[in-house]
Amino acid sequence: MTIQQKQPVMRMISPAARDAKLASLQDKRKVVLDEVAESDVYQIGIGTFSPMDGFMSEADYQSVVETMRLTTGDVWSIPVALPVSEEQAAEIHLDDEIALVREDGVICASMRVAHMYRPNLTHEAEQVYRTTEDAHPGVHRLYQRGNVYLGGPVEVFGDERVDEFTNYAYTPEAVRKTFADKGWKTIVGFQTRNPIHRAHEYIQKAALEIVDGLFLNPLVGPTKSDDVPAHVRLKAYQTILKHYYPQPRVFFGVYKAAMRYAGPREAIMHAMVRKNFGCTHFIVGRDHAGVGNYYGTFDAQKIFSNFTPEELGITPLFFDHAFYCKKCEGMATTKTCPHGDDEHVILSGTKVRAMLREGIAPPPEFSRPEVVKVLMEYYSQT
Ligand code: ADX
Repeated sequence: MTIQQKQPVMRMISPAARDAKLASLQDKRKVVLDEVAESDVYQIGIGTFSPMDGFMSEADYQSVVETMRLTTGDVWSIPVALPVSEEQAAEIHLDDEIALVREDGVICASMRVAHMYRPNLTHEAEQVYRTTEDAHPGVHRLYQRGNVYLGGPVEVFGDERVDEFTNYAYTPEAVRKTFADKGWKTIVGFQTRNPIHRAHEYIQKAALEIVDGLFLNPLVGPTKSDDVPAHVRLKAYQTILKHYYPQPRVFFGVYKAAMRYAGPREAIMHAMVRKNFGCTHFIVGRDHAGVGNYYGTFDAQKIFSNFTPEELGITPLFFDHAFYCKKCEGMATTKTCPHGDDEHVILSGTKVRAMLREGIAPPPEFSRPEVVKVLMEYYSQT
């Protein structure tokens, strides 16, 4: 079944309006964005966070925290507001137009402050992250950001910086057009914050057996410091795509948003973003967007039962734990393999990073040698 999708809401300033808008913002109050807010504002601008047209109002925030839906009923699972400190808030008034500024001083957006409110951060942590522990990287960040949230519509300038991701950073509009040009009717989206390993490849290719195309869409925005850096992953993605994927059936584009590590709630958000990109299906495997032992292995799949297929507008494809089985002599999952754990090659991300740091290559049953080479090169220099 192909579900009819709405066009995403975009908030980009047109090139024709750019100069006048920029000039009008020069004497406005400036709020410097942290890396999360900066990535959020760009995502709102290009439409991956559609139907949001700006940072959330208090009513939307409450509704998202309590019900995983905006006040319109649209599914959205993680608050996206603009936190500021009490000192900053004291200088901002409702209805002000403010300039949102990157850390390097460049104005990247304007915002009309339609809402200003004080969230209950521990309640947000409990609801969204299922823990109030500061040791959780998403909760830690939540507590460190401001105590006052601003909400209101934004207008966003294009990101003119050029870096290694520029050639792979597409708007949902462009991605949808590419899918249409390729004639794909069914497209599976894949989120990852890691280099592609054999289990990823297995579940992607299993999905590719039943859909027209794969949208390989790694998150390359802010992550925690011990995750493999995005520029290294980019090299690894290029390598594996070249050697092991059917080129005409895969489209590669980056998702420049911040990782929240919110497990189940983030799986829903990731699915909504891929719906906005035009995907019809979305892969959710084991411990999607999880960190440490905060979430049950399949909690990120179970959470989808809170929504009807019509509400979601994208079909989740659930996969069991995948691994290489020595007895089967191939990739399998707990659903398809009858053999015991002793036969399975399973390594956690933490273990793999520790091996790489010590100069030990993960086995080919876990990761393709071409990918291992890229990772070993990076870790030998750090
Ligand atoms: S995530 O934090 O972005 O979800 P990750 O790169 O670990 O990170 O996973 C990408 C996707 O692959 C997620 O849907 C995850 O559930 C799935 N996945 C990762 N490893 C496995 C595995 N061994 N078996 C099944 N699914 C997996």
